[in-house]
Amino acid sequence: MDIDRFLSDRSRLMKASEIRELLKWVNENVISFGGGMPDPSSFPVKEIMEITRDVLSAKAEKALQYGTTGGILELKEELAKFMGKVGIKINGPEDIIITVGSQEALDIIGRLFINPGDYIITESPTYLAALQAFRIYGPRMVGIPMDSEGVRVDLLEEAVRKIINDGGKLKFIYVVPTGQNPTGITMSDERRKALLDVASRYDLAIVEDDPYGYIYFGDDEPPARLKAMDSEGRVIYLSTFSKIAAPGLRLGWVAASSEVIRWFELAKQSIDLHTSTLNQYIAAELLRRGVIEKNIPRTKEIYRSKRDLMLQALSEYMPSGVSWTRPSAGMFIWLTTPERIDTGEMLGTAIKKYGVAYVPGKSFYPNEERHNDMRLNFTYPTPQQIFEGIKRLALVIAEYLNA
Ligand SMILES: Cc1ncc(COP(=O)(O)O)c(C=O)c1O
Repeated sequence: MDIDRFLSDRSRLMKASEIRELLKWVNENVISFGGGMPDPSSFPVKEIMEITRDVLSAKAEKALQYGTTGGILELKEELAKFMGKVGIKINGPEDIIITVGSQEALDIIGRLFINPGDYIITESPTYLAALQAFRIYGPRMVGIPMDSEGVRVDLLEEAVRKIINDGGKLKFIYVVPTGQNPTGITMSDERRKALLDVASRYDLAIVEDDPYGYIYFGDDEPPARLKAMDSEGRVIYLSTFSKIAAPGLRLGWVAASSEVIRWFELAKQSIDLHTSTLNQYIAAELLRRGVIEKNIPRTKEIYRSKRDLMLQALSEYMPSGVSWTRPSAGMFIWLTTPERIDTGEMLGTAIKKYGVAYVPGKSFYPNEERHNDMRLNFTYPTPQQIFEGIKRLALVIAEYLNA
């Protein structure tokens, strides 16, 4: 059967990753910085085991039953307290919905807000899977360059003005302000204020995707969440248990006004009815018993020490002309080579000849305008792999530079 004849126009907007083909070559002899996985030693395994047993002994009839689309009240109440500690104030549980990871929330955002031809603004580069989630709904994506303080709000304002003057519909601005994926950059306080100010002056909505804010491992204090600074209800806030507990739980949440949350619930109903009830009860207990709070400093330490190792290896081995970021949060370092290197093209040699893999930078740009960066994950590989892998990466870059 020729499936092609039956596919919707929307399916054709789903973009297969060219990188996936190359990553098939990754085997046990290849050191991969390509994934986006946390260090498994950060998972609170013993506690999850105990809690699962307790939840099933005490309330199996609820934990194994269908639940409400918005999520269980116990978890929403715990999350309200958890967010309260970082200054995010909400009116009550009606301002939260529990999702299947933040990834589901990103897809729902696309469904709820984007008509084909609408504009959205993102940082450039930005989280690849957000671009993929939004792209299905056919928006025009405008990427705004970043510097070490985060997105260039001056350029963002120019873009907003142009979209509005051209009669375009700008639906939202999507940002990952802390430990951004892929660059590792954290937006400064000044930029955060400026961004909220632009949103206020032009009456815009902001989507704040915050998987990494709770495991900020910089030496200074983490900047306030946009959601905590938002006095006008413009910020739709997304976070997740993937980095503070474990991604396999597939649990995320959205905090926004109750009116916005009702729309999320309507969309989610037809997607999956609700998020796993059992996992929600487990997560509520992880918060209530302080497991998450205890796990966060441990996770920060693991991330910080692996980041330091990768930074040390980079400065030891990389040829001149190569630069990289120094993240205070998140799981990634963003490395930029001289322009004559196309990191997508180089990946085949890196994997097959040198035994090292990374994600080429191009697909993180909404309009794929740059080809000489790469994303390196430092949380999953072991310390030995980090050193050896960066050494190999330096060799392949040197080969391409000298070619
Ligand atoms: C910026 C960003 N948003 C969302 C996600 C999705 O996370 P999850 O669906 O596991 O909650 C990730 C995962 O790495 C991410 O980096």
